[in-house]
Amino acid sequence: MTKIGILVGSLRKESFSEKIATNVAALFPEGYETEFVEIGNLPFYNQDFDDKDNVLTEYTSFRNTIKEFDAILFVTPEYNRSVPAVLSNALDIGSRPYGANIWSGKPAAIISQSPGNLGGFGANHHLRQILIALNMPLVQQPEAYISNVVALLDENGKVKNEGTVEFLQSFVYTFVDLIKKYQA
Ligand code: FNR
Repeated sequence: MTKIGILVGSLRKESFSEKIATNVAALFPEGYETEFVEIGNLPFYNQDFDDKDNVLTEYTSFRNTIKEFDAILFVTPEYNRSVPAVLSNALDIGSRPYGANIWSGKPAAIISQSPGNLGGFGANHHLRQILIALNMPLVQQPEAYISNVVALLDENGKVKNEGTVEFLQSFVYTFVDLIKKYQA
């Protein structure tokens, strides 16, 4: 079984990102298992804890959780044209201490969403920049910017636009192909 960790860049109860992520999780083929990873409980990263050998249990447990996944899917809104702090913090925690970056080598894919027209382009690309530093092989094409998200979801949070479902399905297949390359 190939395990995909899903990190959502929003803590909001009715988060559109989480709804999109739930739709996408259902599109993985047999043999793939998805799991949402909690990041809202993580204290802000402070390098002193690692340097002074006083590592917080929350950091250790998060790092161990991420190590178990074969690949990571990020679904995020855009905050002020960039990556929400909660997601950035989780990435920082996993990237340290120096030389023990738990993200390294794990295939990843990014979906950004927005109620607006730009589909979270800024967050998507800033996240790409971070994932390059973390040495994560990324789905390059197709790029997934989900704009006008409110109109795409029905009252149960299901994507109702057929074209969007088809797009997300092809995105998942591309991600699966990338994951297979790194498993070989
Ligand atoms: C936003 N929002 C937003 N939207 C956008 O398209 N570009 C942006 O730069 C921002 N900036 C921003 C900053 C902050 C602090 C907040 C709280 C919100 C609006 C955002 O897209 C909207 O609230 C989404 O609903 C957030 O995604 P979730 O929580 O529904 O997943």
